[in-house]
Amino acid sequence: SDQSAFDTNVWTLTRFVIETGRQAKGATGELTQLINAMLTAIKAISSAVRKAGLAHLQGLAGSVNVTGDDVKKLDVLSNDLVINMLQASYSTCCMVSEENEGLIITPKDKRGKYVVCFDPLDGSSNIDCLASIGTIFAIYKRTSDGEPTEKDALQQGNNIVCAGYALYGSATLVALSTGAGLNFFMLDPGIGEFILTERNVKIKQKGKIYSMNEGYAKYFHRSINEYLKHKKYPEDGSAPYGSRYVGSMVSDVHRTIAYGGIFMYPANEKSPKGKLRLLYECNPVAFLIEQAGGLATTGTQRILDVQPEALHQRVPFVVGSPDDVNEYLSFVKKFT
Ligand code: AHG
Ligand code: MN
Ligand code: MN
Ligand code: MN
Repeated sequence: SDQSAFDTNVWTLTRFVIETGRQAKGATGELTQLINAMLTAIKAISSAVRKAGLAHLQGLAGSVNVTGDDVKKLDVLSNDLVINMLQASYSTCCMVSEENEGLIITPKDKRGKYVVCFDPLDGSSNIDCLASIGTIFAIYKRTSDGEPTEKDALQQGNNIVCAGYALYGSATLVALSTGAGLNFFMLDPGIGEFILTERNVKIKQKGKIYSMNEGYAKYFHRSINEYLKHKKYPEDGSAPYGSRYVGSMVSDVHRTIAYGGIFMYPANEKSPKGKLRLLYECNPVAFLIEQAGGLATTGTQRILDVQPEALHQRVPFVVGSPDDVNEYLSFVKKFT
């Protein structure tokens, strides 16, 4: 492409989605509309995140959400932005958000054929200390006719049509896949467009970093602590792994895709299903990791095969480079 500072044939995310959308049979452009609406919300959230400290947007909103999290002001603002932009795109029939207990049903006159499960602001415990945070979403086609129901949202991750995450880090990035590989786009604030920077990203077969909150070690099942010991004091002469943990899933997952290795939020005695929520954190990320050639498991089954039963259900979550996830699974087999 044009090597000058200004690429005159620039691949924006919008152009990329139109291009891939047109290849889909019977394409109506509705998915393109939906993704563009999500991008508008993400750009607005990115702007709010970077002004939060100045616009008194840090701190608590004063409520607790259905999964017991203290809701932050930015959680609420991000949630409202996503709901409003998506409903205004006439492409959704219902949605599931971390910040709403029940199914969010799109007003009848604004309905389309897609279902969106999203985490409007991921890693909100990191807002006030300026560590990176994100937004996560998964898009499905509705399965019912007439009035949308929870069943439309309780689909296996295998049915995902499109998923992505935004990372509000040193740059604002969107990672997106419609099922034909994982692509990275960076926000160019100068033109307010996401520009394609990496096409068909692949994760390393094996990495050198493990990532988890070891503060729960006292409550971990034995297989986790045995795996950790092997990473720190390998008996096979291999080098110990490095450790990295931000505490924002999108940050930890994006680093795992970019550098290789393993990220996990396993079950522990205090949270027997772990902490991460299946519909709007685990499924979209599992879809993206598999598109990059990685693995995503609960420890006993592939994440995308889990049949959801409740909108906010949690699952143990282990993802990353194939060799690292398989090595972890060998410890699960050995110690359970
Ligand atoms: P959210 O801010 O959307 O509620 O998600 C927070 C999650 C996830 O981002 C992160 O991996 C995990 O919480 C960190 O949990 P711990 O603080 O228990 O490690
Ligand atoms: Mn939360
Ligand atoms: Mn989250
Ligand atoms: Mn969240």
